[in-house]
Amino acid sequence: MRACHSTKSGEHLTGPSLAHIWDQKAGIAKGFLRYSEPLQKSRVTWNEKTLDQWLAGPERFIPGNSMTFPGIQNASARQDVIAYLKAVSEQKAPSASGQSGGMMMGRSERTNLKKAELDAQVTSLTHCRDTYTLKTGKGSTHKIWEFNLRLKTDSSEYGPSPGKPVITGSGMMGDRASVVFTSPSEISTFIKETCN
Ligand code: HEM
Repeated sequence: MRACHSTKSGEHLTGPSLAHIWDQKAGIAKGFLRYSEPLQKSRVTWNEKTLDQWLAGPERFIPGNSMTFPGIQNASARQDVIAYLKAVSEQKAPSASGQSGGMMMGRSERTNLKKAELDAQVTSLTHCRDTYTLKTGKGSTHKIWEFNLRLKTDSSEYGPSPGKPVITGSGMMGDRASVVFTSPSEISTFIKETCN
């Protein structure tokens, strides 16, 4: 499944950490800044019953929420997920990102961009008209159409070091590469506008 939730305490991905949801009110995970209003105002407390309703049809249960997930149709598959989440909250199941026994959710292993390979380390990035020219720690040069290059930030412990952006994704040869910076302010200082 996609990289959406971790069951590690405090680790928020697309969705909030699910480490401590049991018997807790919806929308209160500490440090998660992306809750929708409907979820926060829902007055739901998470337990067997409410999680079953939520997972059967998120949009039906809390209309307008921002979890883009169709739900789990199979009732016994829902029960497995719910039992797992209860065990995580009671600290009876290992809680790691994506640690899941095949059930869910989140990346199986998040790569630490501070330890990126040389050919993923970006040593310079220039922009000329519609093209980025990117050089890596291995000395290779890549020309990328500006519309195919995503500029991202990762301020988490897995993000790159300041001043040391990293290229990720399958894309360097074709389309869709991403360069990940540690903060937004770095993006415009790192990228030089030049056609030389
Ligand atoms: C079996 C799969 C999943 C389970 C068990 C699950 C469970 C949950 C729960 C319990 C919450 C409420 C958390 C809270 O109140 O703090 C939640 C929220 C959320 N989840 Fe999931 N989720 C699943 C799949 C996904 C997927 C695939 C995505 C990403 C596409 C996702 C993204 C989110 C987001 C963004 C929220 C916040 C929603 C809002 O504020 O409206 N979840 N999820």
